[in-house]
Amino acid sequence: MSDTTTIRWEQDQDGVVTLVLDDPTQSVNTMNEAFTADFDAVVERLAGLAASDELRGVVITSGKKTFFAGGDLRMLSAARPEDADTVFEKSMRIKRALRKLETLGKPVVAAVNGSALGGGLEIALACHHRIALDTPASRIGLPEVTLGLLPGGGGVVRTVRLFGITDALLKLLLQGRQYRPAQALEHGIVHELVGTPEELTAKARAWIEANPTAVQPWDVKGYKIPGGTPSTPAFAANLPAFPANLRKQLNGAPYPAPRNILAAAVESAQVDVDTAMVIEARYFTELACGQTSKNMIQALFFDMQAVNSGAGRPKDVEKRTVRRVAVLGAGMMGAGIAYACAKAGIEVVLKDVSVEAAERGKAYSVGLLEKAVARGRSTEAKRDELLARITPTADPADLAGCDAVIEAVFENTELKHKVFQEIEDVVDPDALLCSNTSTLPIGVLAEGVRRTGDFIGLHFFSPVDKMRLVEIIRGPQTGDEALARAFDLVRQIDRTPIVVNDSRGFFTSRVIGQFLNEGVAMVGEGIDPVSIEQAAAQAGYPAKVLSLMDELTLTLPRKIRDEYRSAAEASGGTWTPHPADAVVDRMVDEFGRPGRSGGAGFYEYGEDGRRGRLWPGLREHFTRDEAAVPFEDLKERMLFSEAIDSVRCLEEGVLTSVADANVGSILGIGFPAWTGGVFQYINGYEGGPAGFAARARELAAAYGERFAPPALLERIAAEGRTFTD
Ligand code: NAI
Repeated sequence: MSDTTTIRWEQDQDGVVTLVLDDPTQSVNTMNEAFTADFDAVVERLAGLAASDELRGVVITSGKKTFFAGGDLRMLSAARPEDADTVFEKSMRIKRALRKLETLGKPVVAAVNGSALGGGLEIALACHHRIALDTPASRIGLPEVTLGLLPGGGGVVRTVRLFGITDALLKLLLQGRQYRPAQALEHGIVHELVGTPEELTAKARAWIEANPTAVQPWDVKGYKIPGGTPSTPAFAANLPAFPANLRKQLNGAPYPAPRNILAAAVESAQVDVDTAMVIEARYFTELACGQTSKNMIQALFFDMQAVNSGAGRPKDVEKRTVRRVAVLGAGMMGAGIAYACAKAGIEVVLKDVSVEAAERGKAYSVGLLEKAVARGRSTEAKRDELLARITPTADPADLAGCDAVIEAVFENTELKHKVFQEIEDVVDPDALLCSNTSTLPIGVLAEGVRRTGDFIGLHFFSPVDKMRLVEIIRGPQTGDEALARAFDLVRQIDRTPIVVNDSRGFFTSRVIGQFLNEGVAMVGEGIDPVSIEQAAAQAGYPAKVLSLMDELTLTLPRKIRDEYRSAAEASGGTWTPHPADAVVDRMVDEFGRPGRSGGAGFYEYGEDGRRGRLWPGLREHFTRDEAAVPFEDLKERMLFSEAIDSVRCLEEGVLTSVADANVGSILGIGFPAWTGGVFQYINGYEGGPAGFAARARELAAAYGERFAPPALLERIAAEGRTFTD
């Protein structure tokens, strides 16, 4: 048995066996083919020892920094509907082994020495006792739902039995929350917390000594699931609320995993453990073989890994860390950027036109930290330490010694030029120079700086403390060194960088503009605005399209459009108006409804700025003679408009990587996660890119040439490839 490769067997004289999970082929342990086979074999061997009474107990731990990473996503992402039997059998195989382990009649302890996610926590849940080592990087949870899956290694069955249906769903299964060890202890997911690896081993041994015949609670006769099951009258009375709440939360968005999780939890609670495992495996198999999990695994796992590990970073530039950053402009964005940098341990000099304005920017961090302390997520000492790193000022001289600059003043080219001129000689002579512009071309802004090679776009998203994405925009003059340093800075502040080339609106602002325009164009066609908003929700967008337009204000796209038009005319290019333009003009000029900040837009707003109902005038002023537009078309027009423009971005070289676009579209601009991002949406569309192109031609015939498939899409479709091949 010593020939197992992914699990080390260490047996002491007292008959305690420690299984050290340590797959030599990977940096983390996963439930790949080799592990599953090895695990089967060691459980058989344990059963043999238990039968001959040579086994005192089992400790499961890992030889890696993390305990266990989870399922084998490469295998799962390759599973097709025709592989259902194989996937089902794999799920059952691991469940059978874990079930055998928990019914050995001997104590089994999980010594969780690092993160235990997905399959990792499922292994730990099959142990009678769970002890976690408290490390800052450790996370414990069942994040399967965030990849369109459910825990298929008994995770649904065991959490339901441990916490009850409601708590299992809310704590672990439906949100996929990942807990720090201390929170996991608080929620009863682990039983003990230790500070050192030595303590971990000692406590595991002690527990085995004290509990020689451990059994799982659900294997004790008469065990009742906490909170009841559908056969309990009080619980049954509440049951219809479950799917209703879920429907409300999903708002029609096509996420199959939460539905399957709910069904698996409720159904598995009504039968014995072994039957429950079969039910869980069926629901798991359906998800694993479906398209949504493939989409989500591609974007949120593989693409995310590629993006974060530096696929877009020039390789031959040495890594540098930023020590002291100048943030210019302490408004909404500057304040958030200052917080993010200070949180990562960087000294921040926050400059605005007056000390008062700069202080207001710092107050934003005070507010966030007060809240974190009140909620127990931070301490007063940490709060003070972080705040001490932010120095508000109005004096450019205070920027001396800064090795990076992030500018976030008003969106105005002349002002940005002026601000850079003011500080270029004060900061370090090789300081990285970044602008957080959301629309202005980096090449144009670079005209105002002398060291153009060090100048680059660093586009953050609002609110900065919550949004994980930063779009790095390489200008025509930006050097490799600046690109690499910008990339490193984004990673240093724990954000996900995508790298794009310069153009108006770059990738994210340009593409989200298509979504907004499409929704506004539908108003112009006299489509019921309630249906437009509902279509955005049902397509899976986190924000409704007209309400988002109101938030951004309608004068903004008008300003951008006018700038685009003059830029196109100046360069002798062509300018194609969008059907949304006329609607925006009428809303602003004729009806005086520029959006929320103006007190009226597509929606009505109360005195307190609260959003009321959709403005009834829309139905009156924008009418329609023709037949209704199919609801499916409304949804697809939004999704297609963004996906097709992304293809154009790739054609034009604004985008250089499909992974950047998939990740950036989900994290930055709310493209629905179920699609796997703009390109994975095309890859995974029925019939693949060819099916997508055919549907795009239909939409073009019905709604306008903007839907016509770009040449690159036609080529990929004709070659029978996907954008990721
Ligand atoms: P804001 O209006 O909240 O803040 C701008 C700040 O710049 C103000 O505090 C102003 O006093 C300050 N300022 C003006 N002149 C200055 C000078 N000479 N020196 C120092 N500070 C000066 O604007 P916001 O929303 O923070 O936007 C800033 C930049 O970030 C803009 O370029 C914007 O396009 C971009 N951006 C905005 C996003 C958003 O969601 N609001 C998202 C991404 C980028």
